[in-house]
Amino acid sequence: MATLVDGFGRVATNLRISVTDRCNMRCRYCMPAKGLDWLPKDELLSFEEIARLTRIFVSLGVDKVRLTGGEPLVRPGLAQLVGMLSNVPELKDLGLTTNGYYLEQQVSDLVNAGLQRVNVSLDSLKPEVFREIVRRDFFERVIAGLHAAKQTSLRPIKVNVVMLRGINDSEIEAFGHFARTEGFVVRFIEFMPIGKDDGWTPDSVVPTSEIKARLETIAALRPLEADHQYPAERYAFADGLGEIGFISSVTEPFCESCNRIRITSDGKLRTCLFALDETDLRTPLRRGVSDEELAAIIKDAVSRKWAGHLINQPDFVRPDRTMSSIGG
Ligand code: 5AD
Ligand code: SF4
Repeated sequence: MATLVDGFGRVATNLRISVTDRCNMRCRYCMPAKGLDWLPKDELLSFEEIARLTRIFVSLGVDKVRLTGGEPLVRPGLAQLVGMLSNVPELKDLGLTTNGYYLEQQVSDLVNAGLQRVNVSLDSLKPEVFREIVRRDFFERVIAGLHAAKQTSLRPIKVNVVMLRGINDSEIEAFGHFARTEGFVVRFIEFMPIGKDDGWTPDSVVPTSEIKARLETIAALRPLEADHQYPAERYAFADGLGEIGFISSVTEPFCESCNRIRITSDGKLRTCLFALDETDLRTPLRRGVSDEELAAIIKDAVSRKWAGHLINQPDFVRPDRTMSSIGG
C-alpha cells in the first residue's frame, strides 16, 4: 500500500480534521473573550470535500481519523459527515474531540452514524473554576454530555485536562479520583503556546513529572503498554482502578515518533501543530484535479515534514494560527 513517509522515516497514519474554526466556549488558553475572526462559511470544506480527501488519505495509509474544531458539534449536521466517513472502507478508527456542550443532544445520532470514540475537554471539576477557564457557565451541560456518552457504545471515553499553574492545578488528585470512580480515561495535557492571548509562559506549564508524583499519592501508577498510535503515555493505578494519560508536549516532546497530520477547516494540510507552513488542498480540490494529483500533492507535503517543534528553545516561533483554527 502507498504510504505517507517523511524525510525522518515517520509514517503518517493519523489524520485530524478540523470541521469548523468556531466555538461556543472561550477557553483562556485558546482564544480571547471576544472570540476570533471566524472564517466565512464558504471557505470551509464541505462534507463532500472532507469525505473525498479522507478517501484519498486512507488510500495513502491513514487508518485513524479524528474530527475536531473549534468545536465540531457546532457545525450543523455533523452526524451526517460521521456517516459518510464511517463508510470509508479501511478506515479503522473514527473519533471526535469535543468540548461536550452538545454531546447530550447529539451523541446517539453520532453513534448511530458510526462514531467509535470521543474525547471531551474538561479542565475543572468545580463549576466556578470551569467557568473561569472557559468563560461560560457550561459545567453541568458538559457533565451531562459525558454521562450521556457513557450510556452508548463509545469506548474508551477520554477526558482532556489542560493543567494551568495557579488555576486548576489544585485538582490533580481530584481528577485522579474522577478517573477511578467514573471510568473515564483522564489525560493531562501540558499547556502549549498555541492560543491567541493565551498568557503562556514556561512557568504556567504544569509538568507531567509533577502531576505524576501527585497522583502517586492516591495509588502507585504502573505504565501500560505504549500504544504507538498515540502521543499519550498511558498509566493505570496499580490497584486496577482508573487509567491516566499524559501528553507531555512541552517537557517531553514526542515529535520523533509523531504519526499525525492535520487538515484545517479551510482545507490546508499541516504536518505539525506548530508548522510555519501549510499546503493548500482546497484550491486544487475546487479546481477539479484528479484524486491522483491530490495524492501527489499530499505525499510531497508530508515528505517535507520538519523534525519537530522548538517550544522552550530561543528560536521557537509561534505559528500564526491558533489550536482552534488548526484542529487540536
Ligand atoms: N495547550 C494544550 N492543550 C490545548 N488544547 C487547546 N488549546 C491548548 C493549549 N494551548 C486542548 C483542548 C482539547 C485538545 C484538543 O487540545 O482542551 O482538549
Ligand atoms: Fe473552544 Fe476547544 Fe478552544 Fe476551548 S479549547 S475555546 S472548547 S476550541
